[in-house]
Amino acid sequence: MLIVANWKAYVEELAKAKKLFAVSKKLTKEKETRNDIVLAPPAPLLGALAVKNKSKVAFSAQDVSATSGGAQTGEITAQAYSAVGAAYAIIGHSERRAAGDTDAVIAEKLSHALASGLIPILCIGESERDLEGRYLAVLREELTRAIEPLSPKERAKVIVAYEPLWAIGKDAEHSIGQNDLAEMILYIRKVLAELLPGKSSRNSLVLYGGSVEPSNIRGLAGASGVDGFLIGHASVDPRTFSMLVKQLS
Ligand code: PGA
Repeated sequence: MLIVANWKAYVEELAKAKKLFAVSKKLTKEKETRNDIVLAPPAPLLGALAVKNKSKVAFSAQDVSATSGGAQTGEITAQAYSAVGAAYAIIGHSERRAAGDTDAVIAEKLSHALASGLIPILCIGESERDLEGRYLAVLREELTRAIEPLSPKERAKVIVAYEPLWAIGKDAEHSIGQNDLAEMILYIRKVLAELLPGKSSRNSLVLYGGSVEPSNIRGLAGASGVDGFLIGHASVDPRTFSMLVKQLS
């Protein structure tokens, strides 16, 4: 399983970042582990940890600039992330969409990430599960608008993270149920199969995010055909994160 720890702005101290990194390194060294860990720290902390990283733990940007560099004060480009050792980039997270990222901006960011050699983790998700099933159309649109501008080869590199907004930042009880998740993963795979050439979507990874905690991670993993998880609040406490990863070993 691919476990992506989205530290958001929860982690603001180097000492805490180092501790979480140390715990992650230890987890990837455990014999029985079938898990890959990707850490997504705030940019300066990512730089501090990733630049000398020789471990199996990988790093992800939480976002990348829609620009490709130059006179753009404050922007952090995909290339700059790549230069300090990031391998992935979360793009289109609902918290970035709420801050103004449109589908067009997201498509632009995806293309910059890919051009810099970063693997994009594209977040999609509906804000509510309406009774008419419009949430399915929301997902289809978000996915299509983001990856349609990419070349077929690039499309095949994108990891999709299904993150329903109503499940983010709550607790395991308010997360998605196993059956609903299984259904959504199937649906996303179906849309991906339409957007990707030939059978290449079979290799696409689909993650789930939204209140994944030690008490629900195993159930969600078992029933749903999901390839991994994007974890927010439960990933920034060393003990909880360790428990989460061990649930999947
Ligand atoms: P959460 O966040 O695990 O705190 O719900 C997930 C995310 O927003 O990526």
